[in-house]
Amino acid sequence: MTNTGRRPLRSAAWFDNPDNPGMTTLYIERYLNYGLTREELQSGKPIIGIAQTGSDLSPCNRHHMELAKRVREGIRAAGAICFEFPVHPIQETGKRPTAALDRNLAYLGLVEVLYGYPIDGVVLMIGCDKTTPACLMAAATVNIPAIALSVGPMLNGWHRGERTGSGTIVWKARELLASGEIDYPGFMDLVASAAPSVGYCNTMGTATTMNSLAEALGMQLPGSAAIPAPYRERGQIAYRTGERIVDMVWENLKPSDIMTRQAFENAIVVNSAIGGSTNAPIHLNGVARHLGIELDNDDWQRVGLDVPLLVNLQPAGEYLGEDYHHAGGVPAVVAELMKANLLPHPDAVTVNGRSIGENCGDVENLDTKVIRPVASPVMQKAGFINLKGNLFDSAIMKTSVISDEFRARYLSNPDDPEAFEGRAIVFEGPEDYHHRIDDPELAIDEHCMLFIRGTGPIGYPGGAEVVNMQPPAALLKRGIHSLPCIGDGRQSGTSGSPSILNASPEAAAMGGLALIQTGDRVRIDLKKGTADILISDGELARRRADLEAKGGFPYPASQTPWQEIQRAIVDQFDKGMVLKPAVKYRDVAHT
Ligand code: FES
Ligand code: MG
Repeated sequence: MTNTGRRPLRSAAWFDNPDNPGMTTLYIERYLNYGLTREELQSGKPIIGIAQTGSDLSPCNRHHMELAKRVREGIRAAGAICFEFPVHPIQETGKRPTAALDRNLAYLGLVEVLYGYPIDGVVLMIGCDKTTPACLMAAATVNIPAIALSVGPMLNGWHRGERTGSGTIVWKARELLASGEIDYPGFMDLVASAAPSVGYCNTMGTATTMNSLAEALGMQLPGSAAIPAPYRERGQIAYRTGERIVDMVWENLKPSDIMTRQAFENAIVVNSAIGGSTNAPIHLNGVARHLGIELDNDDWQRVGLDVPLLVNLQPAGEYLGEDYHHAGGVPAVVAELMKANLLPHPDAVTVNGRSIGENCGDVENLDTKVIRPVASPVMQKAGFINLKGNLFDSAIMKTSVISDEFRARYLSNPDDPEAFEGRAIVFEGPEDYHHRIDDPELAIDEHCMLFIRGTGPIGYPGGAEVVNMQPPAALLKRGIHSLPCIGDGRQSGTSGSPSILNASPEAAAMGGLALIQTGDRVRIDLKKGTADILISDGELARRRADLEAKGGFPYPASQTPWQEIQRAIVDQFDKGMVLKPAVKYRDVAHT
């Protein structure tokens, strides 16, 4: 039928293929049966997918079911047809054993949908933690025009006149409960106050981090990340996102044009400036690998470590999502970075066809208490340190959440200000930790380091968010709120603990953590970037041989088919936790 004379569309191979009228009929007839017309499907209009991550099972993203209506209207207004379809749900707080296990499952499912159906471009409905990387990874592999739309954070939480932030309040409430300052109903009230509306976590947890970074990468319209879910601007930007993807299809502006190495370096800088989650390197390294870009934790330290923390959001700071939006969101952060020449690649292109510098350079910071200028940051040098040694090849530490208390106790030796040593207390996973942390026989004091292992992508499928371990109650009562924590798991982005985490390779992959024993002395040197058990190489080799003779580091059996499949082919955290066989597939929509 009518082709508009513009470039041939991928969907025409299904719906308007004169070389194969039989197949065209077969492909098209079921899409007519709910009322679409032949004119619509054969008019040469782009077909736009809406990758719906919201459902009753995923409350953080559930508001996308409303926003999709505005996206559809935008798509229609711009002259295209839309097909909305479900993405495998991933709810951070509801999925056992871990939501992270499902990131790669949702990725695989979305790749199949985008490859196998007549879709010319896609709107990725991102939000809750793992939904963002799952969608970006799939867009990277398929490489059809794609634009992301955040569902937006919840409104600020309030309790007795104070802001209560999602996730972050849980850590505080647990301490109050453990020390007897509140009872269980008080605990419930305090925690629930932090989730007052639809939307994702209102703190700078993994969700706000990953949505901000999707914008910093250029994959969302400017300003899209921070608008709270219930605000009218959220519906308005949903409409504009729908309009814009149609033009992106005609321009053939693809994920690989936007998510370049330069874009990832911009995102790393923005991550430091916002105080982003330690889950970000896992996810961004993973997205990059699906684009054939080598990005590792050395890049995070090199590009991000010296960047100051500008965004004063919990857990590193005071404010919450609404405040971040009112101050100007990601564009205001980028503008502050640009004023100080700290954004490495202002010319990186974004979904609107303009560069990030053009989009953000003139944006005004509307509240310098919430988004600080570079000259008066919340903290200098707020990036991640990448540590290495006989404990692991790579583990990161988020410097922006090192508290004054922690710094005074561990990082203030005048002869050795950035190093500390301690006696290792080793836990075999979260259950063992909860069981034994208050065991007086362990004699845990402020000179101990808490280790947790068996919690990486293989050991605890997907990797558990458990490395931020609270000290025993006896120490809490003495006012000691954090001990150095080290592990092969992750930690929630809403936690304010300066843990050393995402250790790779994990114990279950026979990394050095498999060999440590309670009582070992360990030395961490932040300046040198080292983390070592202070024993001889010979002793380490002996322990390794012993463990190998017993069949390697033990971990529990898989409970579902997917757990077993993922464990067999998943890579380590520092390599993006991707499915190893998947990374060789590029541009699959064009094959
Ligand atoms: Fe879904 Fe935090 S739990 S965004
Ligand atoms: Mg989380």
